[in-house]
Order: sequence, then C-alpha cells, then structure tokens
Amino acid sequence: MNRVTCETAKKNNTYDITIGNNLLKNADKYISRFIKGKKVAIITDSNVAPLYADILKDALSAYQVFTFIFPAGEASKNFSTINSIYSFLCENDFTREDTLIALGGGVTGDMCGFAAATYLRGVPFIQIPTTLLSDVDSSVGGKTGYDLPCGKNLIGAFYQPKAVLIDTDLLTTLKPETVSDGMAEVIKTALLSDKDMFDLISEKQLDLTEMITRCVHFKSTIVQADELDSGIRGILNLGHTFGHAIEKLGNYKTYSHGQGVAIGTVIACKIGEKLGLTKKGIADLAKNTFEAYGLPTLPPYSAQEIFGALKNDKKANSSGIKLVLLNDIGSAFLHQTDFDTLEKLLTEVI
Ligand SMILES: NC(=O)c1ccc[n+]([C@@H]2O[C@H](COP(=O)([O-])OP(=O)(O)OC[C@H]3O[C@@H](n4cnc5c(N)ncnc54)[C@H](O)[C@@H]3O)[C@@H](O)[C@H]2O)c1
Ligand SMILES: [Zn+2]
Repeated sequence: MNRVTCETAKKNNTYDITIGNNLLKNADKYISRFIKGKKVAIITDSNVAPLYADILKDALSAYQVFTFIFPAGEASKNFSTINSIYSFLCENDFTREDTLIALGGGVTGDMCGFAAATYLRGVPFIQIPTTLLSDVDSSVGGKTGYDLPCGKNLIGAFYQPKAVLIDTDLLTTLKPETVSDGMAEVIKTALLSDKDMFDLISEKQLDLTEMITRCVHFKSTIVQADELDSGIRGILNLGHTFGHAIEKLGNYKTYSHGQGVAIGTVIACKIGEKLGLTKKGIADLAKNTFEAYGLPTLPPYSAQEIFGALKNDKKANSSGIKLVLLNDIGSAFLHQTDFDTLEKLLTEVI
C-alpha cells in the first residue's frame, strides 16, 4: 500500500491518496477519520452499484449509509442528475456534518464533487475511484462539474476531496477498452513526468499500485503548484487539443477520449520535432508505447479536417491556440501558435 499527499494551499486542504489492493472491504480503516457526522451518501452509477456498493456499505456499518444510483455514462453528467442528488440529500436530512462518497469513474467523481461543493455551500466528500482514468486523473486535483448540452464540463467548481482511496482490485471488472482509455492518460503522464517512469511503463515493468502511485504523485505536484489551473496545470492537457478534435470529428462515438489523446499526443510530439523544439525520436517512442497498450496512433482524418475542428475548440483564442509540447520526456511547456502556422504544421505531420 502506498500513500501520496496532496497539499492545496488556496482551498486550504491537504489530503491523502491511499493506493493498494483489498482496500474497499476495509474502507472504514482508511476513511472513517474524515467522516464527522453519522450519515454517509454513496453516489454511484448503475454499473458500479451492483459490483461494489454493498461492499462499501458493509465496511461503513458504523454509519447510516444512503445510496444514490444514476444511469451509468457521460449522458448522465448533467444538471438533472445533480438536481436529483440535491433532492436526495435534502430528503434524507443531510447536514454539513455529513459526508458524500463518490464510488465510480470520472463521471461519478465529477458530479459527486460538484454536489458536495454546492449543497449547503459545501459538505465534505471522499473519492473512491473505480476506473483507471479516475484513479490517475480525475479523482485528484479538485476539478468537479457537469456538462451542458453545448459542451463538456462547462459548469464546475474547484473543490478538493477530504481523502482519495484507490483500490486496484476494482479495475478487474472494467471492460478492456475502459482500461485502454485510462492507459492513454498514464502514458501521457509518464511523458510529462520522467524518462525512468516512461521506460518502465513502455517495458510493462510496473505493477498497478506502483504505476498509479507515480501518476498520482506527478498530478499532485502539478496541482499543488497551480491549483486553480492558471498556468503550469495546463501541461496535463498534452495531446488533448488534437484529441478533442478527433473525438469531435467522430461524433464522440468512433474514437474514445483515450484514443483521441493517444493520437493527439503523437501529433503534438511530431509538431514539436518539426519546430525543432522537441528532441528527435520522442514521437516514435510515444507512438510505440501507445501501440504496445493497444491504442491507435495514426490520425484518421486529414490535416484540414483536424484543423477545422480545433479552430472552434473552446480553448482557442482570437490569435491562435496554446499547444502543450515537450522539450524531452519529463519536460513540457506551453507554446502559443497562430492558426496559419498550425495549419501548415498539421499538413506537414499528417
Ligand atoms: N475532474 C477531472 O480532473 C477530470 C479529469 C479527467 C476526466 N474527467 C472526467 O471523467 C469522465 C470520464 O471518466 P471515466 O472514463 O472514468 O468514465 P465513467 O465514469 O463513465 O466510467 C466509464 C464506464 O466504466 C464503468 N465502470 C466504472 N468503474 C467500473 C468498474 N470498476 N467495473 C466495471 N465498470 C465500471 C462506468 O459505469 C462507465 O460505464 C469524463 O466526464 C471527464 O470529463 C475529469
Ligand atoms: Zn484526458
């Protein structure tokens, strides 16, 4: 079992992230010191509930446990679900003393966190992520929120959990494609973090606990440096600008988020190499590692199609777009480029 601490000064909260196997059954041992009141609400989805809700409920038998279940999937990440969570808490007389627990993937964690941030102007919450993506990315850092019909994650709040409990055993029930999606974020993190981690992941030499610990440690370092995402935290979006364009061109059906990130990261590395800013050979190293984990790396659309889709990206500004590029593995930076240059670069690398 490993432990990483995340200190977030602005929101004045320090929390532990505990990573290991066989933790859910003993959840009380790790999280009860953060539960002040008598009531706990487990917020979970329709796939995770039948697998794990009772195990968590049994572990928390010292409390009065309520369970809220919503239909699994991104389509539920909307205000209607949030509103149902508020009603559920209100009907069960939840007070500021009581605690919410997100038991699920990123969709559950983001919504439970937002409900916790806003119900009674803030109640404590704990993250128990159940997908690889939520283990290494969404459960740490305090970004919470939900989608609007006109775009993803447009409503949100920064609100840090009191604790994060990552049980690697929960990943055994995931569909292989959901694991692959999480691996895209793991490989992205390794490229941002350091060469040693990248090599160990490329060679498949890290066990799950060690791999997740290194990712969480890296993310915590970045979150601590830029909790409210006004600078360096932007590097966590490596590959995401192009990835989002690919997801969008496939109507969010043909390519998953992780597949978009894998293809997008290789495009970003190739552009960096073209500009002479990224060490030669990094794009190939990244490509080989994504492919070793079954992720696609070849752009399925033309340079013009990708350019068209990202010109309208919500992160674009009137003078162009900020790309995340690598100098080398373990050294990323933000690079502002205008649209004409970007179009030319895309045509050269695709
Ligand atoms: N807050 C952040 O910093 C942050 C970062 C990255 C992504 N996100 C958000 O995370 C979301 C994506 O997260 P996700 O990929 O975990 O999606 P998800 O929560 O929808 O989970 C993916 C699927 O796996 C199922 N599932 C979850 N755990 C399972 C388990 N242990 N066994 C079997 N099935 C299981 C879910 O029911 C769902 O069908 C997006 O909404 C994204 O915006 C947030
Ligand atoms: Zn992502």
